[in-house]
Amino acid sequence: MNLGEELGRSLPRIRVPPPGPRSREAGARLAALESPSVDARRESRENESGEGHAPIVYASGRGCNVVDVDDNVYVDLAAGFGALLLGHVPERVASAIDAQRDRMWLALGDVYGSDAKLALCERLARLYPAPGARVMLGSTGADAVTAALKTAVLATGRAGVVAFDGAYHGLSYAPLAACGLRSSFRDPFAEQLNPRVVFAPYPVDAASLGRSMQAVDRALAGGGFGAVLVEPILGRGGCVVPPPAFLPDLSAVCARHGALLVCDEIWTGLGRSGAWLASVAGGVVPDLVCLGKGLGAGLPISACIGSARAMSAWARHGGTTIHTATHFGAPLACAAAVATLDAIEQADLPARARESGALWMTSLRDRLGEPGIEVRGRGLMVGVALAGGAPRALAVTRRLLERGWIVLTGGARGDVLTLTPPLDVDPPILSAFTEALAGALAEIPIRGGSPP
Ligand SMILES: Cc1ncc(COP(=O)(O)O)c(C=O)c1O
Repeated sequence: MNLGEELGRSLPRIRVPPPGPRSREAGARLAALESPSVDARRESRENESGEGHAPIVYASGRGCNVVDVDDNVYVDLAAGFGALLLGHVPERVASAIDAQRDRMWLALGDVYGSDAKLALCERLARLYPAPGARVMLGSTGADAVTAALKTAVLATGRAGVVAFDGAYHGLSYAPLAACGLRSSFRDPFAEQLNPRVVFAPYPVDAASLGRSMQAVDRALAGGGFGAVLVEPILGRGGCVVPPPAFLPDLSAVCARHGALLVCDEIWTGLGRSGAWLASVAGGVVPDLVCLGKGLGAGLPISACIGSARAMSAWARHGGTTIHTATHFGAPLACAAAVATLDAIEQADLPARARESGALWMTSLRDRLGEPGIEVRGRGLMVGVALAGGAPRALAVTRRLLERGWIVLTGGARGDVLTLTPPLDVDPPILSAFTEALAGALAEIPIRGGSPP
């Protein structure tokens, strides 16, 4: 088979217009069982964009391809919300899971660990740029952020958190309190959340950096803040890359006020942004780093990695204060994570993502000469901010889906196409997408105007 046909590296092959009859039937059954919020959101998206938003239903995946229940083949540029760094069902990880499957699935957490957990903790500690790092494993990204925020309270004795507008850290209660992306995620639960969270503006350029740093400095100077929680590049917030001085400035202000710098690298880490850790590439040594998403190649596993100094706070209570859960450090997920890290390292995927992302962004800018469009990001986390707001962005994702391209919208206003393909995606697939996007944009005029 030629490139473009082999499943895993195939261009789209649409047999029936999506969603086909099987997707429609299965999607309706699912909607009747899931949280009603899923269907309610679909309905508001239909009203907002004037396009149908009935879902396709996935049946299988391989590499950068998804096959739906109607046998349509898509290219997956959402890749499990950016988590499928190696694409769907990567062989090397599948073999590691197979090997572990016959040995053990669940050990005994923080009481009796496993050899698989040991191997993973050793690998993760080596990612931290200073000796003596400690690792706390979790299942979800939100678990890792929770571990970091708990560590900050223990280490500093201060419960306050400085977070950023537009940032996303997960929706369980500790990270939810620091979710600056959308207040509707927080508002109904506000009375159950940490009240000591202050939001600073996330800097988008050198001009806004000063305002942002002033807000952080003012909050920290007020006292009571033990953590500054930051995404080195906003992910769900629309692939916003801050000016280079941002992280070093934050690190300095944290050191001045005795707060911990917590870098949430759940989106940016493990090569997605073109580096193993965007924070380290950005010139800082965070006190705590959160990893998740891609760590298990699709299996749920996450980690909070911290300096020996910050983590030592957990020893103070004679082990009576712990942070654990039944499935934390489960051997099956640990084996998958070790194989994932091996695969990323062996193919030097951070470098590959850096190079192919830079070329792709240039070609997107050249090809999409539409006024108001902004292509931004780093590595293979790429945002295309569109004129015409969320309604147009949603309509464009629908036209793309009809052509066989799976794309999500993001950004605080929902007007950004967020593109997170597997890191080893073939460049011709990215070029084909650029053409498809140009076509979809031409079909969807900015409301109140003609197509640009
Ligand atoms: C930067 C960041 N932090 C944390 C999370 C939460 O991860 P999870 O959904 O696995 O809880 C996400 C999820 O999108 C994220 O993008």
